[in-house]
Amino acid sequence: MVRGKFITIEGSEGAGKSTNIQYIQNYLQAKNIDFVVTREPGGTPIAEKIRELLLDRQNSSLCEDAELLLMFAARAQHLNELIVPALESGKWVISDRFTDATYAYQGGGRGLSEEKIAQLEQWVQGELRPDTTILLDIPVEQGMERVRQRGETDRFEQEKLPFFSRVRDTYLKLARENPQRFHIVDTQPAIDEVYKQLDIVLDKLTIHD
Ligand code: TMP
Repeated sequence: MVRGKFITIEGSEGAGKSTNIQYIQNYLQAKNIDFVVTREPGGTPIAEKIRELLLDRQNSSLCEDAELLLMFAARAQHLNELIVPALESGKWVISDRFTDATYAYQGGGRGLSEEKIAQLEQWVQGELRPDTTILLDIPVEQGMERVRQRGETDRFEQEKLPFFSRVRDTYLKLARENPQRFHIVDTQPAIDEVYKQLDIVLDKLTIHD
């Protein structure tokens, strides 16, 4: 059994993840690739409960270390129950966010140390890393405007511009440090242009299958 590919989709707030993940799904379906789409935090019933805790605006006193540990608690459950079994059965896994989000939000955004995150990454994931990461990138002001138009905000979306600037900068830094794994897709242009950029990445990924 050939192990499936593990693809993660990242981006700061309002980068257009939902629309583009839908496009990726349609693309893979058309190629007859067996895949599951999931998300973080969440993806399994227990991890979704942890997500509720993390996104609930009423939990404004949640401390930064607890936030970080809950992200990895949800991730441990997600890996154990869904991601690893799916990959081992040959399915591709498309995850709406994964550990790069922890580096960007808890590291860049909250200012927690990279070493702390790296230790948890090693503990929870061992050697498992995404095969490919698509970073949907948009200037912070534009992303925040899209979020405002959506209406109700969660605990993270309530943060202010400097927080999201640090998140974006961290994502871009991760992309520079891991050029083999990361593909940056600029989501500012018209949607057809964005899909063309995605096609280039997806064509490369599927060409050998
Ligand atoms: P989303 O479904 O809108 O992407 O919401 C998830 C939120 O959780 C988003 O604001 C980013 C945040 N998040 C982190 O802060 N750290 C993480 O490790 C992950 C996976 C998400």
